[in-house]
Amino acid sequence: MALVTTKQMFSDAIHSDYAVGAFNVNNMEIVQGITEAAQEEHSPVILQVSAGARKYAKPAYLKKLVEAAIADTGIDVALHLDHGADFETCKQCIDDGFSSVMIDGSKYTFMENVELTKKVVDYAHERGVVVEAELGTLAGIEDDVIVDNSDAVYTNPTQAVEFVEKTNVDSLAIAIGTSHGAYKFKGTPRLDFERLGKISKLLPETPLVLHGASSVLLEFVNSCNQYGGKIPGAQGVPEDMLKKAAEYTICKINIDTDLRLAMTAEIRKYLSEHPEEFDPRKYLSPARDAIKNMVIHKMRNVLKSSGHA
Ligand code: G3H
Ligand code: 13P
Ligand code: ZN
Repeated sequence: MALVTTKQMFSDAIHSDYAVGAFNVNNMEIVQGITEAAQEEHSPVILQVSAGARKYAKPAYLKKLVEAAIADTGIDVALHLDHGADFETCKQCIDDGFSSVMIDGSKYTFMENVELTKKVVDYAHERGVVVEAELGTLAGIEDDVIVDNSDAVYTNPTQAVEFVEKTNVDSLAIAIGTSHGAYKFKGTPRLDFERLGKISKLLPETPLVLHGASSVLLEFVNSCNQYGGKIPGAQGVPEDMLKKAAEYTICKINIDTDLRLAMTAEIRKYLSEHPEEFDPRKYLSPARDAIKNMVIHKMRNVLKSSGHA
């Protein structure tokens, strides 16, 4: 029961047909729902914190919540900075005791990305912290910045090799067609498995990361809309595609939107069925259970990480 890096998790997952789920955390109910699921499923788990989460909940609260969850459940947890925008943010999280950080230099040129990533890797490795970087650009919404599908750039396999050699980064997020948020594909969902195969073959020992991997399950969108929501035509990554991706060297699969939908659907339903209720504990308890059930579903049926802790 400790805060651990992703090193052991990824070396176990890389040549197996499962991946570790990285779930975004923003408050106590989300932390509890995810860690209780990991405990019950005996699954490895990564809790990740975005810039938005740090702004919303304050870094000190999130760190303490994760420490409390480790003490309560007795599981190992990797605490990861999601989409670190600059060296300073990564440094702060490393100094605060995170076990893993992402430096997202995907908006920069290749050489600028290399330089920034290398700087973070050097600082992190001296302190026993692991680093994820990103090469290629995902479409979708991230920290309120919208990247249109036409501006998304898939990861170039030969550049990926050069990037890993030059930076010594521990894991690499790649762009193969997924995107952030609830609106991922305009037409038929498609991931570039050929490209993934090439990258996996060229970098057999580098754990790969898939961002934007929510499936946006219709059941939860419909449930939100049935109880007053107005979520239009959302579309996610089909779960079968994620299962297939996990069979390559994809070791970490990021899921946030699906937890948001599960939680919101439950709160809408509860308040609609109990219009007289105004005790937050009453509607946040089923919402926490909804998070837990969604994470159990992902670990068991999609990531296939159950039993691998
Ligand atoms: O990559 C984005 C994650 O879903 C985090 O979203 O920046 O709204 O916290 P956020
Ligand atoms: P989703 O929006 O598909 O859940 O992706 C989350 C993510 O990639 C966080 O980094
Ligand atoms: Zn992401």
